[in-house]
Amino acid sequence: MSIERTLSILKPDATARNITGKINAIFEENGLRIIAQRRVFLTRAEAERFYIIHKDRPFYTDLCTFMSSGPVVVQALESENAIAKNRTIMGATNPREAAAGTIRALFGLSIDQNTVHGSDSAETAAQEIAFFFRETEIVG
Ligand code: CMP
Repeated sequence: MSIERTLSILKPDATARNITGKINAIFEENGLRIIAQRRVFLTRAEAERFYIIHKDRPFYTDLCTFMSSGPVVVQALESENAIAKNRTIMGATNPREAAAGTIRALFGLSIDQNTVHGSDSAETAAQEIAFFFRETEIVG
């Protein structure tokens, strides 16, 4: 294992319900350090660019509409094994399939409004962190 960084997004359903602090507490209780964080309102074009990997999937249009429907909190998280750790803490993409106690089981409303996004690999994490943060904005 090694120290890793992963990109996390607290989605519009989280900011709408004012639960970003509760989610951050779960990250911190599990040893993930928030080493960069910014609240932003993504334009539709930014959401489309961020999720371009999904552009041919049937859910792409709805996903981009949702992600640009309200503020989000973008974050870089750091810990040992941060990418897999965050995915475990988040739970399955579909909140109905997420293990008890995970963020999506606790707070997710639907597969689109699933409260959090987390990078799925080291390569994606590097790309996604660079999408939102300059190196000087990340304070480990
Ligand atoms: P996220 O981790 O942000 O990555 C892409 C998002 O697309 C995913 O979470 C879900 O919110 C959304 N999505 C909607 N439908 C699906 C689906 N069938 N499979 C995967 N992701 C989906």
